[in-house]
Amino acid sequence: MLEPTIINSPIVSNPASATEEQPSVLHIWGRTPLQGHVAISGAKNSALAIMAGALLCPQDCRLHNLPWLVDINRMIQLLAALGLKLNRQGDVLDIDSSSLSTSQAPYELVSQMRASFFVIGPLVARLGMASVPLPGGCAIGARPVDLHVRGLQALGAEVRIEHGLVHACINERRGRLKGAKIYLDYPSVGATETILMAATLADGETLIENAAQEPEIVDLANFCRAMGANIQGAGTKTIAVSGVDHLHSVEYSVIPDRIEAGTFLVAAAITGSELLLSPVIPEHLAPAIAKLREIGLQIRLETPDCLRILPGELRATDIETRPFPGFPTDMQAQFMALLAISEGNSVVSETVFENRLHHVAELKRMGADIRVKGNHAFVTGVPRLSGAPVQGTDLRAAAALVVAGLAAEGKTEVGGLQHLDRGYDNLEGKLRQLGAKIERVQAPPSNVTPA
Ligand code: UD1
Repeated sequence: MLEPTIINSPIVSNPASATEEQPSVLHIWGRTPLQGHVAISGAKNSALAIMAGALLCPQDCRLHNLPWLVDINRMIQLLAALGLKLNRQGDVLDIDSSSLSTSQAPYELVSQMRASFFVIGPLVARLGMASVPLPGGCAIGARPVDLHVRGLQALGAEVRIEHGLVHACINERRGRLKGAKIYLDYPSVGATETILMAATLADGETLIENAAQEPEIVDLANFCRAMGANIQGAGTKTIAVSGVDHLHSVEYSVIPDRIEAGTFLVAAAITGSELLLSPVIPEHLAPAIAKLREIGLQIRLETPDCLRILPGELRATDIETRPFPGFPTDMQAQFMALLAISEGNSVVSETVFENRLHHVAELKRMGADIRVKGNHAFVTGVPRLSGAPVQGTDLRAAAALVVAGLAAEGKTEVGGLQHLDRGYDNLEGKLRQLGAKIERVQAPPSNVTPA
């Protein structure tokens, strides 16, 4: 077993302080079993939507259980750029929206994070107008915002897209958005959130049909309800929102991150380890737990919010990503790493995003046997992966390479950590506490001069 000796490589001691300006790489010495308990942070995707939702209320909001992530910092910056006063102490964030001073979201911030587009609904509901740059595509797909736009139009907003900006405004005669019946062609998480937030302050009732049912939608709806919104049916295909005149101050705690928890379950499974995870909401993890059981792992409920995973023989299975309660696209890459060393042939089909199999090439560098045809990956389990330098191309792809590195023989170097840091709260610190041999080091300076 290679020992983690790091020569001339400055260790980045606080991963939360890592930024994109400070490129770094994770060095992982694999095949070390993990053990112990891991604390799961607040859900990134809930927290981002809820922070945007805080714009709806002209008073103070206090949010608890906020994860420590680059994406959360970006949302804080965006809200501050809109005039809000924010104060963060550990996992608690105070947001004072009384000072909201502009309806224009700056391009530099929106272009860095797709979720920042979510401010459009609350801005238009509260100020009657919003101007938000198009978020653009990303590594995993084109990711249009047509469903958000059509939803706002259905609520009576006039929407123009010019020079890369989405301008939405309410016809002055009415002064308020107007409730409507909206059928979503696809149960988009973001579009459901945009319409849900906008409808809270609309005149009359809004019905969102074929709505997304993700737990983060329920969390956002619960947050809005705690501020006085009238919302029924969140978590089902039909959400009814009865508009109110104004929302009030609130203190709210974000749910635990099901994708972070799922990633640790895969890390335990791939290293043949026994782990305890809490706090979790087991129902949110049902699709991932069902697949882990099919693969051969035992998962037990220790207490209502604590799971224990036990090692098992790894067997192939098929996975198809679907909107909740289907198998989450955000867990597809991590499960692909697990199936890469599970005995037999598996098929992994990505149906949510059109371009989310970039990690396959990197897993193959580690010895995985995977063929891609369209949006299907055909995985033949190999007995062992071998450590290699690999590059995370998006958030969950980077996480998949980290868990693959934990199982691989020798040393794996995972780059692309600017993606990982967007969505995992101190992943390597938590893994190290469980016994993993993992260090973040500054990448050596590149000799390549850009053309
Ligand atoms: C959210 C999550 C992301 C997760 C995804 C699916 C956040 C911050 N991000 O992203 O982690 O992977 O849900 O569970 O919550 N689409 C359209 N038009 C639209 C909107 C979406 O065609 O107006 C398409 C997308 O291109 C994609 C599919 O719908 O193919 C799903 O996207 P959506 O559910 O909207 O995902 P996001 O909200 O962007």
